[in-house]
Amino acid sequence: MGRSVERIRVEQIPAEASFQLRHRVLRPHQQSSIVLFPGDDDPETGTYAAFGPKDELFGVATVLWEPCPWRPEVEEAWRLRGMATREGRRGLGIGGAVLSAAMDHVARADGVLLWCNARTAARRFYERAGFVPHGEPWEEPELGEHIAMWRNVPPVSVLARAIKPSHPRPMRED
Ligand SMILES: CC(C)(COP(=O)(O)OP(=O)(O)OC[C@H]1O[C@@H](n2cnc3c(N)ncnc32)[C@H](O)[C@@H]1OP(=O)(O)O)[C@@H](O)C(=O)NCCC(=O)NCCS
Repeated sequence: MGRSVERIRVEQIPAEASFQLRHRVLRPHQQSSIVLFPGDDDPETGTYAAFGPKDELFGVATVLWEPCPWRPEVEEAWRLRGMATREGRRGLGIGGAVLSAAMDHVARADGVLLWCNARTAARRFYERAGFVPHGEPWEEPELGEHIAMWRNVPPVSVLARAIKPSHPRPMRED
């Protein structure tokens, strides 16, 4: 009753503006400082957020310059961390839109490879975004099973041609 359909907007935010959602979604049972990543304060680091129609923070993700453990020779490798969509807003395309913006950031910075340690529960989400697994899954204490994943990042010019702007699915407003 009285529900309207709205779109989200995705923009770059200071890393610290993502900490609360990171903590709530990814590590709620640990102390909040655990969600600070080395490199969060690096000016090259990109943190992106999806906001709802009333400026509610719905999703976040961060990309940092960090060598890929199994491809150390690749200098322009970046790591994706802190990928989180608020509970109750998942499956609407928010994570995909935030990830797309984060990947654009990597491409603009001339990054060529993006990797992450993914929760296996989210593996399909990453596969849909073009990531492939590397190696075997492992158990991360307190967090569950993880698997390393990665993808190549095409140059900006190719990205602009190949990837249409992300259009999240319409969302109902509470
Ligand atoms: C993984 C996550 C960031 C995806 O965000 P999202 O906004 O739901 O992503 P999208 O709507 O763009 O894509 C949804 C896809 O993600 C997958 N997914 C993973 N967990 C999901 C969940 N709890 N609810 C809905 N979809 C989920 C589904 O495969 C879905 O694909 P489908 O549309 O083909 O069914 C989000 O589910 C989340 O925050 N999960 C908890 C934290 C987490 O695991 N983060 C990743 C750490 S590596």
